[in-house]
Amino acid sequence: MATEELISKLTSLNEEFANALIQLSSEQEIREVQAKYLGKKGMVSALMREMGKLPPEDKRTVGAAFNKVKSSIAGAVEGRLGELAAAAEKADLERTVDVSLPGRVRASGHTHIVTQVRDESVAIFGELGFEVAEGPQIENDFHNFEALGFAKDHPARDEQDTFFVDDGKLLLRTHTSPVQIRTMLSEAPPIKIVAPGAVYRRDDDPTHSPMFGQIEGLLIDENVRFSDLKGVLLHFVKRYFGEDLEIRFRPSFFPFVEPGAEVDMQCSFCIDTDSSRCRVCKGTTWVEIGGAGMVDPVVLEHVNIDTEKYTGFAFGMGLERMAMLRHGVNDIKNFYEGDMRFLTQF
Ligand code: DAH
Repeated sequence: MATEELISKLTSLNEEFANALIQLSSEQEIREVQAKYLGKKGMVSALMREMGKLPPEDKRTVGAAFNKVKSSIAGAVEGRLGELAAAAEKADLERTVDVSLPGRVRASGHTHIVTQVRDESVAIFGELGFEVAEGPQIENDFHNFEALGFAKDHPARDEQDTFFVDDGKLLLRTHTSPVQIRTMLSEAPPIKIVAPGAVYRRDDDPTHSPMFGQIEGLLIDENVRFSDLKGVLLHFVKRYFGEDLEIRFRPSFFPFVEPGAEVDMQCSFCIDTDSSRCRVCKGTTWVEIGGAGMVDPVVLEHVNIDTEKYTGFAFGMGLERMAMLRHGVNDIKNFYEGDMRFLTQF
């Protein structure tokens, strides 16, 4: 290749590079193109290898021309990188922040409605001095039935459709009443406890679920009378459901209390209106909230408490039922389906 030709090729490489450079907008692209021209296998280096064949007197001029092109390319690269950095900084400075935009609020969870009922009930009974007691959900026949006065062939056992575990040696407790027995076996009177927790029955319809919550109450002391039971439950109803509500007791049977009763309260949904179409109390103006009674001496004998000295009362209520009565919910399944449209209402 003749000297002139080499120099003119070199000049056009330089121009070509300058044109390519303005199209590029990232450092990586720029470095890649730079290598294509100046790198060991680059186009400028390829031309340099031609230089050896030139007449010695021309080498000096051509060498100078190479140096000029190399520094021109290097200079152009630095210039372009500087431009890009400046543009990025300017864009950064010009980016405006809208301080009036509302912040993003993260949804936060809250306790489940049944947990709320439990906590609130425990707090209300706590105002009267009741402490919380607990027992296992897997029980045995003695605590769940026998000590509570359910004889082996007692028909009341059939009413509590039991889930048996371990070939029938154990069972899922069908009510919180076994906590009465456990507490009386481990503590001496006076006893004043509430026992909230999950219970299990083979039951499944709009008002029954195979698992549900109950709260049990037990008071054992000297001179405990039915009127004490009445006072405690009335206090609870007024605090939990409404100041203007009355309660009534209907005679009923539970093996562990004598006398036993079912407890009703006035229906809070229709108390000030026409009850005839009330879907909560079905027009009766009363709703059942649980069972209660005076602890049967037979039970006290099972746990070695002196029946001459001590008497007591017990009561049990369903937690979901309380939530249903307070909020007008008519299907117990709502509590367990995890539908946020339902749960976030409470
Ligand atoms: N354990 C009973 C049930 O689940 C409810 C009950 C009734 C509890 C009367 C009591 C009571 O403490 O005195 O059906």
